[in-house]
Amino acid sequence: MELEILLLTVVSLLSHANGAKYELSVADEDIFSSCNSPDPGTLDINGLMDLSELSTSMSAEGVTISGNATLIWDINLEDRVQMNTNLLYFDRGTWTPTAFSMVSKDFCKSMYDKNQYYYKYWTGYITNDIQDKCINVPGTKIIHKTFTLSLTANVMGPLREGTYKAQLMLRAYDATGIERPTRICLEIRGDLFKV
Ligand SMILES: *[C@@H]1O[C@H](CO)[C@@H](O)[C@H](O)[C@H]1NC(C)=O
Repeated sequence: MELEILLLTVVSLLSHANGAKYELSVADEDIFSSCNSPDPGTLDINGLMDLSELSTSMSAEGVTISGNATLIWDINLEDRVQMNTNLLYFDRGTWTPTAFSMVSKDFCKSMYDKNQYYYKYWTGYITNDIQDKCINVPGTKIIHKTFTLSLTANVMGPLREGTYKAQLMLRAYDATGIERPTRICLEIRGDLFKV
């Protein structure tokens, strides 16, 4: 699923300089897990899109993604979508926050921006012209060309090898700033290695 992409996101988030190269090996072919004990109104990937026409498979090169996804999140085209990304490290049995976090206050403005990690790992592979719909119009079909996510990134500054998860939270706000009754929380888990 495209979300995998997001995972990369997290990694590439960190990827500005000529630091060490890291690879994230995703723990689950389905890529996205649900968040633990979410607040009421919090949905997982299946609340964002219908993935029944999407397939993923894992190989040594990464996760290969093909097919389509259909949006189902019940929000409006005019809504502002905010995305928060946080990276957590699994330290002796506990998920602990890291310094890596990112907020995209208006995801729709940058969804197809070539400088964004989600373009590199996901939206750059969308072949149909749905840019004006963002992720806001239920029923919109997202058609991809087949691609392989290689989760490598150059990271500035030291990172501990080990188990990580990226947590992505999407919230939608109407024109008056009131949050919609549902939000989307996704996690991507994987092991980080220096390569
Ligand atoms: C994706 O959508 C296109 C266009 O509707 C269709 O031709 C294709 O068969 C779909 N792919 C899958 C895997 O369902």
